[in-house]
Amino acid sequence: MCLNAQNQSLEMAIDKEYMMQIKEEHLIATQNRKIIKELYDISYIYHAAIKEISTKLEILNNEFQSIHEQNPIHNLKNRVKTPKSTVDKLIRKGFEVNLESARQKLDDIAGIRIICPYIEDIYTVKNMLEVQDDIEVVRITDYIKNPKPNGYRSLHLIIKVPVFFSDHKEFVKVEVQIRTIAMDFWASLEHQLRYKAKSTQVPQATSAALKECADTIAQTDIRMQDIHNHVIQ
Ligand code: GTP
Ligand code: MG
Repeated sequence: MCLNAQNQSLEMAIDKEYMMQIKEEHLIATQNRKIIKELYDISYIYHAAIKEISTKLEILNNEFQSIHEQNPIHNLKNRVKTPKSTVDKLIRKGFEVNLESARQKLDDIAGIRIICPYIEDIYTVKNMLEVQDDIEVVRITDYIKNPKPNGYRSLHLIIKVPVFFSDHKEFVKVEVQIRTIAMDFWASLEHQLRYKAKSTQVPQATSAALKECADTIAQTDIRMQDIHNHVIQ
């Protein structure tokens, strides 16, 4: 083959590969558009699950206040994961990118964060949730007894709650994170800093400093609990 013909066939091969890449990207974009629309359409289910648990928690908190004159819950935050973050997470975790897979594989499309004044309140809230006979606790991860290597502390529960619709009942998974005000202070700032650092690696010295802060905060949480127990005796 002459040099010209060789160049031409190379160009054609590159063109073909380029076209295939474009087609593939287009296909992915179309599929993603489909699942993003489907996720938007079902987001009301997750909002409903959050509403049910929030109402339950409010009732339990009021009952506790009335009996013990103290609130185990300082405040609640909640969110439904955006369809885009949901798709990003499916891709990141190597799961199939479709609605079924999102609903089955992801535990945190609906999330509630319960912020408590003291460490013991966290377990009070956990116990109150566990004894509700319409809530199924799927998994508990105790990052307070076993903090993450970076110092992160919280109690995580994956629960299933029944949501009632006009013609059926559905059990919906919700991720519940329970932590003290102090743990939340650390986790919020650590998250922001990690996000700001953007590059995947936070410098070693920064990680070590953050870990030290987490441990100091944990000691303070224990002291505050002791002071509280002493005062209410
Ligand atoms: P993913 O849900 O895929 O992230 O992993 P997982 O199922 O192992 O969940 P894990 O319990 O580790 O974390 C779930 C959530 O807890 C995260 O989305 C965060 O909100 C929070 N979290 C976990 N680890 C950290 C951490 O090191 N720092 C902060 N700020 N938040 C964390
Ligand atoms: Mg999770």
